[in-house]
Amino acid sequence: MSREGAWLVACAPMARGTFIALEGLDGSGTSTQAEMLFEALTGRGHTVVTTHEPSRGSIGQRARAMLGGGDGQVDPHLLALLFAADRLDHIAREVEPALARGEIVVCDRYVMSSWAYQSLDCDAQWVETINARAPWPDATFLLRVGAEEATRRVHARTPESQREIFETEAIQRRVEASYEAALARGLPGVVAIDGTRSIADVSEALLQACDALGL
Ligand code: ADP
Ligand code: TYD
Repeated sequence: MSREGAWLVACAPMARGTFIALEGLDGSGTSTQAEMLFEALTGRGHTVVTTHEPSRGSIGQRARAMLGGGDGQVDPHLLALLFAADRLDHIAREVEPALARGEIVVCDRYVMSSWAYQSLDCDAQWVETINARAPWPDATFLLRVGAEEATRRVHARTPESQREIFETEAIQRRVEASYEAALARGLPGVVAIDGTRSIADVSEALLQACDALGL
């Protein structure tokens, strides 16, 4: 390469990374698939960051503590505001810097979780408004698993005393309907994945969806 060509490459702006959100019911497999996606995309030569919401930051930890239900009655509006505030904090601290470095960010839960869960007890339009400043991801992969199967998995994974406030089949049925409504909106980058198949098959389907993103 000529000296001039090398200078142009050195000065070219870094290509922005790709922001992928994984969504689904509790027990749908988002944590399992986030790890598998990390391995597979790293194997393809990408630099990948896996993260989750609620985040590890102080606001996220506060939201997580409320999910345990140990503080007594949970105020659903306060919880919705905590998730939304944690999201902006998370974006600023972790997500945006990684995207600016050109990396892939795989986020276990994001805006659609707030739409699906917080709209059960709060006005859906209000939930959307408090999350409106969070950037929309390049891709949102929704792992579709019915409430019965997802709850069966959660109950097998977590003893009753350690389950969080949304981890009942009755609530998951309502969350499932909320996710289906979100899916029906046909928003950009939202892809439904059959999450009832084997872990390996779901991973393969996610990788095919990543192919479509050019990853
Ligand atoms: P989430 O993070 O969505 O709550 P996890 O990834 O923690 O879900 O998975 C919940 C449980 O279900 C775990 O025990 C996991 O091993 C199991 N699991 C995940 N994906 C599948 C799958 N495709 N088929 C069967 N079991 C699964
Ligand atoms: P998570 O740890 O991902 O649960 P799981 O591994 O069982 O899927 O998320 C914790 C809980 O927080 C889960 O029940 C969904 C809920 N949640 C919301 O209600 N709103 C949100 O915005 C987020 C990010 C999570």
